[in-house]
Amino acid sequence: MASVASLPSLFAAEDSTLFKQIKMKGVKALVDSGITQIPDFYIKPVEDRALEERPLVDDQVPVIDFSGIYDPVSRSRVVKAIGDACKEWGVFQVINHGVPKHVLQDMIEVGHEFFNLPLEDKMSYYSDDLSQPVRFGTSYNPAKETILEWRDVLRHPGSISPEAVQLWPEKPESYRSRENTTNYLKGAKVFAETLFAALSESLGVQSDYLQNILTEMMFGINYYPYCPNPDLTLGLSAHSDASGITILLQDQIAGLQVLREGRWYLVQPRSDAFVINVGDQLEILSNGRFKSVEHRVTVNKEKTRISIGILCVPLGDTRIAPISGLIDESHPPMYREVIFKEYLGHYFSKQHNRKSSIDSVRLKF
Ligand code: OGA
Ligand code: NI
Repeated sequence: MASVASLPSLFAAEDSTLFKQIKMKGVKALVDSGITQIPDFYIKPVEDRALEERPLVDDQVPVIDFSGIYDPVSRSRVVKAIGDACKEWGVFQVINHGVPKHVLQDMIEVGHEFFNLPLEDKMSYYSDDLSQPVRFGTSYNPAKETILEWRDVLRHPGSISPEAVQLWPEKPESYRSRENTTNYLKGAKVFAETLFAALSESLGVQSDYLQNILTEMMFGINYYPYCPNPDLTLGLSAHSDASGITILLQDQIAGLQVLREGRWYLVQPRSDAFVINVGDQLEILSNGRFKSVEHRVTVNKEKTRISIGILCVPLGDTRIAPISGLIDESHPPMYREVIFKEYLGHYFSKQHNRKSSIDSVRLKF
């Protein structure tokens, strides 16, 4: 087992003090202190680790070319491909989504600039309360975890209204100008609405159905520093997202894996693609026709990885239940109705635990 004995002075303290410190300062601060081994409280149980002898199948996650969506002739083909991917995988990549490549690259760059700020600057946004709208934090839910995730994160609302934008960080300069993040969010919103229409059509409901439910965007930058013992820990443990859908941009460093029929698949990094995850709310709304995907993140010995996530979610008071048009005698409701903020309360009450939140609203027969 790794020991904390060799840690340099920034964190030289008793284990419990170290644990408390890191839960606030984050894993980048730990790495910057020059550790050569990870502390014990990052070591995952063997059965949760991403061990190489397990099957990890490359590059099979569907890649869907979105350019046909605006053409009446090819639209139905794209809609079908999206529906099939949501049923069979719960995840797919989209290319030709309409957001220019330089906007994607700039967003990743802004992410690096934010996490490279001095710790004091980031700490002014620190909170361990996951419901805080603007938050710098680490791991997933440090208040509830005994083993931490190898990740730091910045979260804020994804709206570009003046009231929302003024809450964004003031540093670095690339954030203060608001320009890059605003461009990114504008582009992602246009794409999201087009995607919601395609998903609605694929479910056979009116095209604005999902857009009227998934009205909010929550924005996050995930930062996974390089790690001296990548085989012992994870950037994020296996989980499904609480969102309706998640729009994710990965950098060029592999790390995201998805579970399908008991096997883990790598989501191959593509600088031109968005990764789309079906989240738990869409699984409920679709009455199980679409499946939220279980996924996890591995870390890297040499390289720091960044991803940009947008969780497309309902307002807190929204009632989420299987769409009535998707229920009939041979398709009884598979989930009970739940108010979204109560769902989040369950989701945030624990560490990442596979699909345990959606399991709690599943109706048993
Ligand atoms: C998440 C997530 C994946 C990634 O933020 O919920 O699963 O590749 N991120 O960072
Ligand atoms: Ni996730």
